[in-house]
Amino acid sequence: MLLGTQRVNGKGVLEIGGCDLVKLARKYGTPLYVLDEDYLRQTCQDYRRAFESRYANVHISFSSKAFITAAICRVVDQEGLGVDVSSGGELHTALHAGVAPEHIFMHGSNKSRAEMEMAVVNGVGRLGIDHLDEIDALQEIAAAREARLNVLIRVAPGVTANTHTHIQTGKVDTKFGFSLSGGAAMEAAARVLKAPNLRLHGVNCHIGSQIFDLDPFREAAHMMVDFAAQVRDSLGVTLADIDLGGGVGVHYLNGDAPPSLDEYAEAVTSAVKERCALRSFPLPRLIQEPGRRIVGEAGTTLYTIGVVKEIPGIRTYVSVDGGLSDNPRPALYDAKYSAVVANKAQQPCTRTVTVAGKHCETDTLIADLSVPDVSPGDILAVQTTGAYNYSMASNYNRLPRPAAVMVSGGKADLIVRRETLSDLVRCDRMPARLRRGQG
Ligand code: LLP
Repeated sequence: MLLGTQRVNGKGVLEIGGCDLVKLARKYGTPLYVLDEDYLRQTCQDYRRAFESRYANVHISFSSKAFITAAICRVVDQEGLGVDVSSGGELHTALHAGVAPEHIFMHGSNKSRAEMEMAVVNGVGRLGIDHLDEIDALQEIAAAREARLNVLIRVAPGVTANTHTHIQTGKVDTKFGFSLSGGAAMEAAARVLKAPNLRLHGVNCHIGSQIFDLDPFREAAHMMVDFAAQVRDSLGVTLADIDLGGGVGVHYLNGDAPPSLDEYAEAVTSAVKERCALRSFPLPRLIQEPGRRIVGEAGTTLYTIGVVKEIPGIRTYVSVDGGLSDNPRPALYDAKYSAVVANKAQQPCTRTVTVAGKHCETDTLIADLSVPDVSPGDILAVQTTGAYNYSMASNYNRLPRPAAVMVSGGKADLIVRRETLSDLVRCDRMPARLRRGQG
């Protein structure tokens, strides 16, 4: 499976964005996140085209939790997408990257007072309300600044998508938002309408992530329009925005068959249009918040292969110099990945191995991978690591977090520098009573 600008060059080495991955590994060290800039831009454009060609009033906002760095914010901003943030840290990054506050949508469950204030002070375009307490807090914060905030109510539509249970977020049994069934969402809408400094702009939902099936998306669209129509009928307000979140899946494995962006956009936009016609509801602005689909396939992680341990008749373990700390997804969600030995990309695969990370855990990155004969020093390129890898990386076992480079047209630029050993102890403090020579 070759994605984006991935290709095998004349020397039999895998390239991305015209950059030889072995040379990148040598120059920047491993593990290394490599981001295919052309593919990222292309996907932003494809996503926009798929929706804009079918629906007049649409806004695509990148769900930055998937992979947020200043350079990525800049690229998606240049491609005309907004940026969704769900914490003060993500908001800070987007602002620091120069994203106009009105293009930022602040989400988040259990937002702290400081995060809400930061969003209001900086004038973000929209704020998502996840709990009744946030209505009172935001009203207070906005009134103190004589601001009027555009808010969306986060609704849990009660749709169960076929994906890993940890990433099903639109069910009735969820910590996120207000449920439709018990009337909580309607109560929240009524409360917002009573808050003079809040403007009820719309509703948002997100049913889950890495979803291939289009039906749950259609179902969620229907339920959101139905809810908007109920709000109009009972509270007399016509909501301007219906935000259906993100969630559409990507290729991790060769046989994966996520919907094309055209199929997905067709399903979503026609579901919204049909339901609006049925409820005589004016077509709202349709908001999409893709994360994984924008950056997932554009990212690849390079590792250097270290020890190879053969247990005769049982399994061969091929160890790499990263693992759980740069990609916790196999451990958390049983996620599967494909990979290519970058310097042997044209050699026939003759054996099946298990790729193990270096952490003091089982740390299986890929359980069964077909590879050519591998030896220490080979470079393994794990594909589709753009989403929720760097953004969920940790310093477990005090591994410095890897660097990330963005590649295009044969050029590579650092977008995140590798952490150093001093970074690892930067926040450590030694209490006076533990200092050497004390007491
Ligand atoms: N909008 C909202 C409100 C969300 O909560 C999310 C993701 C998205 C949009 C973007 O969803 P996407 O298009 O990326 O599927 N860490 C997990 C994924 C968690 C997704 C959380 N919410 C993983 O690695 O699979």
